[in-house]
Amino acid sequence: MLKTAQLALLALSSLVSLASGTLYESVEQLPTRNVSDYYDFIVVGGGAGGSAVANRLTEDPSTKVLLLEAGSSDFDNLDIEVPSFAPRLTGTQFDWNFTTLNQAGLNGRSIDYARGFVLGGSTAINIMAYCRGSKDDWDRWAKVTGDEGWSWESMQPYMRKIENPTPPADHRNTTGEFNPSIHGVGDYNSGDTIGIGWTQATISNGQRVNAATAYLVPVMSRSNLDIVVNTQATKILKTGSEDGKAVFRAVQFTDSVNGPLYTLNASKEVILSAGAIKTPHLLPDVGQNLQDHPLTTISWTVNSTNTLDNGRTNATFAAELLQQWNDTRTGDLTLGPGNQLGWLRLPDNATIFRNTTDPSAGPTSAHYEYIATDSFVSFSEAFPSTGNFFTMFSNLVSPSSRGNISLNSTSPFAHPLIQPNMLSTEFDIFTMREAIKAVRRFMAAQAWSGWILEETSPSSAAQTDAEIEAYIRDTCFTVNHVTCTVPMGKDGEASSGSGALNSDLTVKGTVGLRVVDASAFPFIPAAHTQVPTYILAERASDIIKGVYQRESLPESLSFAVAHSSEVK
Ligand SMILES: Cc1cc2nc3c(=O)[nH]c(=O)nc-3n(C[C@H](O)[C@H](O)[C@H](O)COP(=O)(O)OP(=O)(O)OC[C@H]3O[C@@H](n4cnc5c(N)ncnc54)[C@H](O)[C@@H]3O)c2cc1C
Ligand SMILES: *[C@@H]1O[C@H](CO)[C@@H](O)[C@H](O)[C@H]1NC(C)=O
Ligand SMILES: *[C@@H]1O[C@H](CO)[C@@H](O)[C@H](O)[C@H]1NC(C)=O
Ligand SMILES: *[C@@H]1O[C@H](CO)[C@@H](O)[C@H](O)[C@H]1NC(C)=O
Ligand SMILES: *[C@@H]1O[C@H](CO)[C@@H](O)[C@H](O)[C@H]1NC(C)=O
Ligand SMILES: *[C@@H]1O[C@H](CO)[C@@H](O)[C@H](O)[C@H]1NC(C)=O
Ligand SMILES: *[C@@H]1O[C@H](CO)[C@@H](O)[C@H](O)[C@H]1NC(C)=O
Ligand SMILES: *[C@@H]1O[C@H](CO)[C@@H](O)[C@H](O)[C@H]1NC(C)=O
Ligand SMILES: *[C@@H]1O[C@H](CO)[C@@H](O)[C@H](O)[C@H]1NC(C)=O
Ligand SMILES: *[C@@H]1O[C@H](CO)[C@@H](O)[C@H](O)[C@H]1NC(C)=O
Ligand SMILES: *[C@@H]1O[C@H](CO)[C@@H](O)[C@H](O)[C@H]1NC(C)=O
Ligand SMILES: *[C@@H]1O[C@H](CO)[C@@H](O)[C@H](O)[C@H]1NC(C)=O
Repeated sequence: MLKTAQLALLALSSLVSLASGTLYESVEQLPTRNVSDYYDFIVVGGGAGGSAVANRLTEDPSTKVLLLEAGSSDFDNLDIEVPSFAPRLTGTQFDWNFTTLNQAGLNGRSIDYARGFVLGGSTAINIMAYCRGSKDDWDRWAKVTGDEGWSWESMQPYMRKIENPTPPADHRNTTGEFNPSIHGVGDYNSGDTIGIGWTQATISNGQRVNAATAYLVPVMSRSNLDIVVNTQATKILKTGSEDGKAVFRAVQFTDSVNGPLYTLNASKEVILSAGAIKTPHLLPDVGQNLQDHPLTTISWTVNSTNTLDNGRTNATFAAELLQQWNDTRTGDLTLGPGNQLGWLRLPDNATIFRNTTDPSAGPTSAHYEYIATDSFVSFSEAFPSTGNFFTMFSNLVSPSSRGNISLNSTSPFAHPLIQPNMLSTEFDIFTMREAIKAVRRFMAAQAWSGWILEETSPSSAAQTDAEIEAYIRDTCFTVNHVTCTVPMGKDGEASSGSGALNSDLTVKGTVGLRVVDASAFPFIPAAHTQVPTYILAERASDIIKGVYQRESLPESLSFAVAHSSEVK
């Protein structure tokens, strides 16, 4: 059996008591809730993007930030902390519970579309895989925005800044699984993702690390950072005009559908970090270009009585595992996503390339991903009550399908219409089909014989191309990587067709409004999306600091700076 364990990463995870007073549990407790121009920045949403930017902007003690979060502050809930309980979190108090419209490419099915509803956002309910994306993914961002600052080389300082590699909970020797030199060649975070590598995850000391524990808990004592939870932004308000552009420096918010509405002005900016569903919801007239990663799974029975299934099928054993985790932060419950991630490309001579352009960013980006898991996993079948299994996820990570988000109602509390439009292109269905065929060839290799027994139903019945296609369309789910709904593009170009944001993440045609979350991606990376969001937010913070440091220079000094650059 495969050794089940991962490497753990992500810095800033030290724990500090929440008692220090800048975390408000309700809007009624926020003393500044209607004091105009008190805050320099108001950040909407405390997930990956919002937590990172709130932390970095308040490093300067003179910068006052308000972070609004719709969900609760209960990110130290046991189900959030225990890594292997992650699948329990969707459809609970921690989930917005979005569902998609019926999708033609999924045989007309609607699927659940989870998003985190708690401080930490989706990083508090996700599966914790740690991926930077490939060199080509980042270089494509630089190309489509015309901003070299987004390239793989330019982003290296941010990639390293957020990482604090820690050993896996079993303290095994990780030589050959992980290359310290690229974090701080060979593992899938080197820029060239292609191959199979040991999973790196946002797990430290056997416990989930999320945006709240990494970026907010350590700085709760900063008097210039106010965080208010259970508070939803309902509208971004126009506050004036500058140079013919609308200024949006006010946020309206409330604690419930019928609660009192408050409005606060920021003296500098409103920063939208509400994620790829809610940020476009707050910014009507955007929401095209949605990109996501579809997945399906195939399982096999195995010749073993010792797999992670036992923690699901044997209640006595499950109780022992929880006791072990609680006492020592060790054991099976410290495990996140599968032990290995594979990043693979179609062959260059695949028939699809005869009449279709490759949608991937380039040769360092995969077309599809495998996740190897030492248990039964399915998003369409009931879990067997007995037995031991092995599962391979096949994820389409360079899709060419594009979806959209639109309004169903003017009420900010009504869910928007979400149409991911998955598997709507020939390339996407071709690649998923080839991924299934390739995974079967891989699992038929001699090395697995005597351990892998037989493929389970119903995938086992899908053998012809048409049957495999039907299996995919009937079972496809999402890796929960919805992104790109308010994409950045080249500065100055009209927002239609070439991005709703400038390359510095400001909303085109506006003043005082910026987006710092996964909706700003122009293309989805061939990677899991939390780390690209953290890295984007790290650079965004430096961009923002740069703007206002310049503006706050004393008059005489700013003249001197302008003068000397004229002389050059
Ligand atoms: C089930 C699941 C599994 C995943 N697995 C992985 C994985 O293994 N690895 C990986 O890299 N990525 C994974 N992801 C994706 C990753 O978590 C997201 O891409 C990332 O968190 C996006 O960051 P964000 O800042 O854009 O949004 P989020 O992290 O979702 O944060 C948005 C925040 O804004 C808040 N908010 C929204 N609207 C409002 C409003 N109107 N007012 C106030 N607050 C608001 C939300 O409650 C939330 O806290 C997964 C996601 C899910 C849901
Ligand atoms: C602040 O808002 C509350 C609720 O709307 C209102 O009752 C109160 O009078 C406001 N206070 C100030 C100083 O405006
Ligand atoms: C916000 O700013 C605008 C423009 O400066 C001003 O007209 C408005 O009254 C302010 N609103 C609040 C609630 O501070
Ligand atoms: C999501 O659904 C669960 C289960 O019904 C519920 O407890 C939770 O409150 C819902 N989430 C939101 C944000 O309404
Ligand atoms: C880890 O393994 C490598 C290669 O097998 C070996 O060189 C190294 O000494 C080991 N480290 C420890 C701490 O055992
Ligand atoms: C269930 O787990 C307990 C505790 O580890 C073990 O003693 C028992 O044999 C297991 N039962 C089965 C059916 O494997
Ligand atoms: C877990 O450990 C804590 C102390 O760290 C203890 O208070 C709690 O009761 C334990 N819970 C279980 C289920 O053992
Ligand atoms: C692609 O090339 C390989 C190796 O040369 C060959 O075996 C395969 O048949 C080719 N496939 C197609 C579709 O031409
Ligand atoms: C591309 O080629 C395939 C196989 O030859 C064919 O089935 C398909 O219709 C073609 N697609 C387009 C868009 O021309
Ligand atoms: C969203 O995409 C679907 C499928 O392509 C399309 O039919 C629909 O018109 C789009 N909606 C909007 C609002 O763009
Ligand atoms: C759209 O709004 C209508 C009217 O309120 C409602 O019946 C319908 O369920 C909504 N559709 C979705 C997908 O939420
Ligand atoms: C199962 O494994 C045992 C011991 O490793 C081996 O003897 C046996 O042949 C295997 N059974 C099958 C069906 O492969």
